[in-house]
Amino acid sequence: MARFDLDGKEIKPLSICLIGGGGFIGSHLCEKLMEETSHKVIVIDVSDEKIKHLFNQSCSWFNRIEFHKINIKNDSRLESLIKISDLTINLAAICTPADYNTRPLDTIFSNFVDAIPVVKYCTESKKRLIHFSTCEVYGKTIGSFLPKNHPLRQDPDFYLLKEDASPCVFGPIEKQRWSYACAKQLIERLIYGESAENGLKFTIVRPFNWIGPRMDFIPGVDGPSEGIPRVLACFSNNLLRGEPLKLVDGGQSQRTFLYIKDAIEAVVLMIENPSRANGQIFNVGNPNNEVTMKQLADMMIKVYAKVSGVSEADLSTVDISSKDFYGEGYDDSDKRIPDMTIINKQLGWNPKTSLEDLLEATLSYQHTTYSEAIKNAISKPSL
Ligand SMILES: NC(=O)c1ccc[n+]([C@@H]2O[C@H](COP(=O)([O-])OP(=O)(O)OC[C@H]3O[C@@H](n4cnc5c(N)ncnc54)[C@H](O)[C@@H]3O)[C@@H](O)[C@H]2O)c1
Repeated sequence: MARFDLDGKEIKPLSICLIGGGGFIGSHLCEKLMEETSHKVIVIDVSDEKIKHLFNQSCSWFNRIEFHKINIKNDSRLESLIKISDLTINLAAICTPADYNTRPLDTIFSNFVDAIPVVKYCTESKKRLIHFSTCEVYGKTIGSFLPKNHPLRQDPDFYLLKEDASPCVFGPIEKQRWSYACAKQLIERLIYGESAENGLKFTIVRPFNWIGPRMDFIPGVDGPSEGIPRVLACFSNNLLRGEPLKLVDGGQSQRTFLYIKDAIEAVVLMIENPSRANGQIFNVGNPNNEVTMKQLADMMIKVYAKVSGVSEADLSTVDISSKDFYGEGYDDSDKRIPDMTIINKQLGWNPKTSLEDLLEATLSYQHTTYSEAIKNAISKPSL
């Protein structure tokens, strides 16, 4: 069926090179593009575990998706795959806070050095690039430097994060947590520079805590038992195992959560409306879904009890210091609320799903997918 852009023009099928397309965001984007559009997707990743279900010969889109098992650090095929595509989307990254201060070099290489050839090939071949950055580029809010009860902390000018106005405020170098944010910021600056000097057509996406099914892994089931995934999978793991949910430094950090399915609608609008998305940096988040990590844990306990039948009284939280949880060099952003003016104006996009609804959908998935495997893992006698 014909698709039309926001200006009423018919959209021609595109060939999209999706780097890092085998991960959480990539898997949802592939599903959407296969189910609802005629675009072709060339996925590049080191793993296809999360998108395997799309490669079934019986699927109507079978000829529109292909997978290339490539590590973009060192593979000459990358250049030719970018050159034969109309658009490149780069999702590949190390993007788990537990890695930022324990593997700072891998984090910096992955988020900056490894992305440079992607930018270069897009510039050279005059191909459009949608690059995934992060809301972490804002770092800490200016308000966080004011005394705790200072009235200006309540003033949006001191906490609302705006693409074209807010500064990027990171901690000192010894706080290696900022290695990720700093590498992402530098690649944004490189892309911006390529556009200014060499005409690269780009869009930069700053996701604000997109969550949903297939995010990360459950330690000891489909990821290393000593691994620390992002907060949704950490809390899910605790819930599935009936362990207390660990609140780092009391769980006082504030975040806004966006349902992955809402987020993917924004990305498809960017793909299909180049004249409105090129040259833009977009915050993509849900300012209405703000909670502290403590509130998120309490909500997840309630929702998990409802979807799993486990008694709420058997689920609890426990405090842990960031040093014990993440190790030396950890630091945190206090609060992250996106200003939505630019994406709303350019693409008319708004998030829809409440935190309660997105947690219900996600925790139902976690329970159905993992509870048996966890029971088996727990009941196995340790050697
Ligand atoms: N999920 C979020 O809320 C969020 C928030 C901020 C930023 N982002 C950014 O969005 C992008 C995608 O995030 P995600 O949540 O899907 O993460 P993810 O870890 O699930 O996906 C990243 C994918 O990139 C692949 N990859 C990494 N290095 C690679 C390499 N050298 N060669 C080939 N493939 C490689 C991984 O195998 C993985 O499948 C990242 O750039 C991340 O920084 C995401």
